[in-house]
Amino acid sequence: MTTDRHHTAVEAETLNELVRMARAAAETAYARYSHFRVGAAVLAGGETFTGVNIENASYGLTICAERTAIFNAVTKGHRRIEAIAVACIDAASDAQPSLRMPCGACRQVIAEFAGADTPVIIDGVGQTTVGKLLPEAFALTPR
Ligand code: THU
Repeated sequence: MTTDRHHTAVEAETLNELVRMARAAAETAYARYSHFRVGAAVLAGGETFTGVNIENASYGLTICAERTAIFNAVTKGHRRIEAIAVACIDAASDAQPSLRMPCGACRQVIAEFAGADTPVIIDGVGQTTVGKLLPEAFALTPR
């Protein structure tokens, strides 16, 4: 196993558990307009923080599950996320993968608190990294 001083690999079973937490969280999504429930689970400091999409009658005020989960972790004092899982529980099992991918705004917010190698697990699609989802991310300070 290779390690360096910046990253410690997250165990596969921990990532599986994160996906289960994201799926379970999605049940409380407030998605009365799209009927597309999304759940996210963030691993930070060895703890898990979940979030759901919360829609609004003024559609543009909707917040995605990923940002809710990250803001939840940050509210509890965390500044670094070790992994994030996303579950779109209303997507058809044969839906195209793009239906389950994090939106561009969420990618930038994930990048704020993650490294390029931080794992992102998309339920029903697979595992990728923050760097692959948002190469050349905007940053005000060097990463
Ligand atoms: N949604 C998320 O929660 N995460 C994403 O990355 C993509 C979209 C939500 C927003 C909205 O409530 C619903 O999915 C349909 O766009």
